[in-house]
Amino acid sequence: MMENLTIDHTDGILTVSITRPEALNALNLKTLSELIVILQQTYEQADHRGIILTGAGEKAFVAGADIKELSALTQEQAYSFAQNGQRLFKLIEDCPKPVIAAVNGYALGGGCELAMACHIRIASENAKFGQPEVNLGIIPGYGGTQRLTQLVGRGKALELMMTGDTIDAQEAKAIGLVNHVVPKADLMTFTGDMMRRILTKGPFAVSQVIKSVNAGFGFAQAGYEAEAQNFAACTGNADFVEGTSAFIEKRQPQFKGER
Ligand code: CAA
Repeated sequence: MMENLTIDHTDGILTVSITRPEALNALNLKTLSELIVILQQTYEQADHRGIILTGAGEKAFVAGADIKELSALTQEQAYSFAQNGQRLFKLIEDCPKPVIAAVNGYALGGGCELAMACHIRIASENAKFGQPEVNLGIIPGYGGTQRLTQLVGRGKALELMMTGDTIDAQEAKAIGLVNHVVPKADLMTFTGDMMRRILTKGPFAVSQVIKSVNAGFGFAQAGYEAEAQNFAACTGNADFVEGTSAFIEKRQPQFKGER
């Protein structure tokens, strides 16, 4: 039994719905630790053949890391917080079995980063994507600075992360952030059909495709470490306190640019 995940296991396919509707499925530490368990089981167990990740409810895939939890972190804790999320997302990226994101609504911040760590992204027409962390006075901390750049190129990635803009599913497809956009009612059927098609192929060959593609990107490279350090540095800045407080108090932040 998981507190924040709803899991269906049919014909070897785990459909994992992140289920925190009161917070638009935001990723708190408990949810991250539950996802780690599912991933570890999938690495080890033969009857776990692939994972479809989605969000419960009508509105959100995942609206980011849990801002209320995040707002209380010290700089030192923020570094571990980023590394913890990066480790989970790396487990997803390197999973030897297919992991597909069925993005059914907001995929913002850590939600966009979660989708990007998956091997394939299918979006419903109402899905929205973005890395809005600058609105909070921080930067992406779960690998977004690296994976967004890999998927859409440096220029568009910088634009999205510097403006914090949210884009719709069609634009996400146009820039290469998602593979397909489908009507909302067809999302799970389309995603399930693709998963079943992959599962008819040689499982070892599929795992070697994932391994070979990922070998070219190198998690060990300095980018992820720099991201964790720079994410933590932002939490030592007065603008972080202002940005997260403004979100919680439902008002616009007034950034001063002071340390
Ligand atoms: N963390 C915690 N709670 C969140 C949340 C989040 N990321 N996103 C939404 N919620 C909560 C809201 O606080 C609200 O709770 P209350 O009802 O208790 O007030 C509830 O979910 C519904 O949200 P809204 O009222 O804001 O719904 P909306 O329809 O008006 O707006 C939204 C939807 C545009 C997605 C808006 O909720 C939003 O902007 N969310 C934050 C998105 C964001 O900044 N994500 C990045 C987080 S930081 C991060 O992810 C860092 C990293 O890389 C690790």
